[in-house]
Amino acid sequence: MTGNRTRDPFWADDLRGIVGDTHVLTEPDAMAGHLTDWTGRFSGTADAVVRPRTTDQVAAVVARCAGADVAICVQGGNTGLVGGSVPPADRRPDTPLIVLSTVRMSDIDEVDAVGRCVGVQAGVTVDAIDRRAGAAGLTFPVDLASRESATAGGVVATNAGGIRMIRRGNTRAQVLGIEAVLADGRILRRWTSLVKDNVGYDLPGLLAGSEGTLAVITRVLFRLVAPPAATVVTVAGVRHVEDALGLLDAVADRGLTIEAAEIMTEAGVALVHEHGLRRPSASASPFHLLLEASGPGDIEGVVLEILDDAPVVDAVVEPGPARALWAVREQHTESIARASTTPVVKLDVSVPLRALPEAMAELSAVGEVVDHPCRPILFGHIGDGNIHVNLLDVPEAAAHSVTARVFTVVAANGGSISAEHGIGRAKVQWTDLGRSDVDREVMRTVKDALDPAGMLNPGVLFG
Ligand code: FAD
Ligand code: MLT
Ligand code: ZN
Repeated sequence: MTGNRTRDPFWADDLRGIVGDTHVLTEPDAMAGHLTDWTGRFSGTADAVVRPRTTDQVAAVVARCAGADVAICVQGGNTGLVGGSVPPADRRPDTPLIVLSTVRMSDIDEVDAVGRCVGVQAGVTVDAIDRRAGAAGLTFPVDLASRESATAGGVVATNAGGIRMIRRGNTRAQVLGIEAVLADGRILRRWTSLVKDNVGYDLPGLLAGSEGTLAVITRVLFRLVAPPAATVVTVAGVRHVEDALGLLDAVADRGLTIEAAEIMTEAGVALVHEHGLRRPSASASPFHLLLEASGPGDIEGVVLEILDDAPVVDAVVEPGPARALWAVREQHTESIARASTTPVVKLDVSVPLRALPEAMAELSAVGEVVDHPCRPILFGHIGDGNIHVNLLDVPEAAAHSVTARVFTVVAANGGSISAEHGIGRAKVQWTDLGRSDVDREVMRTVKDALDPAGMLNPGVLFG
């Protein structure tokens, strides 16, 4: 027994009885990694970090917490970028809280190759799901740069988008079935590989994007797909966003399938290069489009023909997976985090494609019109109209006004303040920009029905 145990809350021993002694962490050092998010902008406190292994253990932990009025912050890989995966900083000491980590929930079922699906526990990483799917000749339709840490529960709870969204849809579209523990400890299980099954409300769909506020997801039955036979990856330097959009149209018009379509700016490519990666091409261009295409016939030949007639500054074309080209795009998040003198203000927005050129121009200029000048670096999933607005060197005191400025631009362009990362703690006070009063009231009604005492992820999504 450690010295700290004498200060443990009365319910901690009950939780040890459920998950095992070593899986209830109460020492500050042991808990630290669970209390700050990936961005370093959001930190909180907890009475314990609890690591169940099975659904029954999750159910027992949640029931015990409900009985003792202990709030629960659910955590998967802790790669979320809006502060939803860590407890609040302003928690009152008389409101106990645990972090429930799914790190030990790592079982993967056998792939159903005929039904093209696989069941996984909530803590399985995206990469592990894809590797299991790959062994059966299939692929997991959700992919993102955090694949080695982001979990099944996390991608469902955030309804993650990622780099295959343009081709396969968001995570919600990949969920065939779900198992989750409700706020009172009951287990909800809707688990069928049927693609047609319309008996009432879409509860798995409701839990997708719920950010740990409605239930603890314990297992997911995911759809798998056949990978394309071959792909070609192009990085084209262009002067205007319109030119990048034009290239996407041209590729689709020639009968190719767009597997991914990403945009980077010169500032982002140069920064990633400073951090050690080879540039895709020597020429500097205001924008760089990364396009992965599949299709019948000579994909590369068609792409080269399109590039011949297109207003590109420079282009490089390689057979997929072209990992070095992808690395330039995927290293943006880490390079930006390393380059900023303060925790990056990361805003993940979307606008209609027709508004994208204007919105990108206005967002690039945000650093000049706010009280505290800052460095914006934009990149994102251009095919989905999704721009990641990263503001570097923003002092914490200026984060609110800078954010408000970005959201004003987004709202004026008919966009969304959260394209794929969710609301978390970062954007709670701005949800009225994206949802009407009635809409937010209905969401609140759903929350109150499923979590009447407000014990699941307090402060996330709702203020
Ligand atoms: P966490 O960060 O642990 O949690 C995220 C939210 O989900 C929290 O609100 C948490 O409470 C809730 N949650 C987690 N597990 C459960 C569960 N079992 N039950 C209920 N609620 C749960 N996101 C994108 O959408 N697209 C991208 O392209 C993308 N790229 C990224 C690249 C990098 C380098 C990084 C660091 C992040 C990126 N993200 C991206 C953000 C992040 O990876 C995703 O939001 C991911 O879905 C989070 O998964 P996680 O397991 O880390 O969840
Ligand atoms: C990405 O697409 O790489 C991400 O969503 C992560 C980020 O916004 O930094
Ligand atoms: Zn993204």
